[in-house]
Amino acid sequence: MIGVGLLGFGTVGGGVYQILKSKKDYIKRKLGEDIVIKKILVTDINKKRKYCVDKFLLTDKFEDIVNDSSIHVVVELIGGEEPSFSYIKAAIKNKKHIVTANKLIMAKHGEEIFRLAEENGVKIYYEGSVGGGIPIIKTLNESLVANKIEKIYGILNGTTNYILTQMTEKKMDFKEALKEAQDLGYAESDPYFDVSGLDSAYKISILSSLSYETFIDVDSLYVEGVEKIELEDIEIADELGYVIKLLAIGKRLEDESLDIRVHPTFVPKNNPISRINGVYNVVQIHGDNVGEIMMYGQGAGEMPTASAVVADIIEVAKNIKYNISNGLINNLQDHRLISIEEV
Ligand code: NDP
Ligand code: HSE
Repeated sequence: MIGVGLLGFGTVGGGVYQILKSKKDYIKRKLGEDIVIKKILVTDINKKRKYCVDKFLLTDKFEDIVNDSSIHVVVELIGGEEPSFSYIKAAIKNKKHIVTANKLIMAKHGEEIFRLAEENGVKIYYEGSVGGGIPIIKTLNESLVANKIEKIYGILNGTTNYILTQMTEKKMDFKEALKEAQDLGYAESDPYFDVSGLDSAYKISILSSLSYETFIDVDSLYVEGVEKIELEDIEIADELGYVIKLLAIGKRLEDESLDIRVHPTFVPKNNPISRINGVYNVVQIHGDNVGEIMMYGQGAGEMPTASAVVADIIEVAKNIKYNISNGLINNLQDHRLISIEEV
């Protein structure tokens, strides 16, 4: 039996609980082992929740999870910087493997987390942190490992793509579209991170770190969000044959320096990226051997993101069961921390 401690039971935590419950027998068949949620950390154990859960599973004390020796994997789905960062570090020190969908933590503190994990002999899994249900981390870490990545870019935030789509197709007001994205569970608990472009910046920083084998200082990136975009801008773009999309771009230049940025972009209507709408994300990658690859799918939301998180939980469970030490998972650990000005 592989014991799981869930930190957070909101949009994504609820989805993870539901998949592990509904696919219990299937997972047992595939893995030859049960995956059991032992405890779930929340702020309010009496809150009315979408999924009915045994009260004894809920706790508002992190100690109940970090000190439980039957818990092998801590799944962090609280979000934000603190207390998530402290909880992840404490769990690693208590020899728990970590699964997280927290891009802020992985972008800002990935180097420290990987170092700590290495010291404590545990692994970090973070597929849900970029692109929701799109398996982009595994693709870069494993499937494209025989490539030198030249360019990686796309739409990496579901909330802002949803807002821009509603403004374009329904002439909806920005605030109204944001409210819809929040109601659908796409937005961060503070939507400033979405609309300011920071969420995309964390994500392109993670993807660039993997692609270019270096840590990226996210504070040094050029980041512009969608707050200033008005219906008039969208109409002008339309008349000229373009659609406005918030793109996150990570490029290796000829002199091997990196150009990493996030900003609204006029995308020609005949470019396939212009047709990626709603909550969908897209990632386009150019590798020297594989050429162009494009992956798209739902970039936010309960089940697509939970799908990525559960895949990570199953991966870690497999590694525990077969005692596999997967060198690729922590392959950021040897990289140097650089700022974009330095490269
Ligand atoms: P929610 O806001 O829906 O859920 C957060 C959960 O964490 C809640 O259950 C809340 O408890 C709990 N929580 C909040 N603060 C604390 C605290 N201080 N101590 C203990 N528990 C706490 O977040 P999401 O599920 O939307 O997001 C979770 C993570 O997944 C974030 O890192 C986010 O960026 C990432 N993510 C989200 C996606 C999405 O589509 N929503 C997609 C991809 C990644 P309570 O229920 O009692 O309020
Ligand atoms: N708020 C994020 C988004 C969640 O809208 O893309 C997925 O990371």
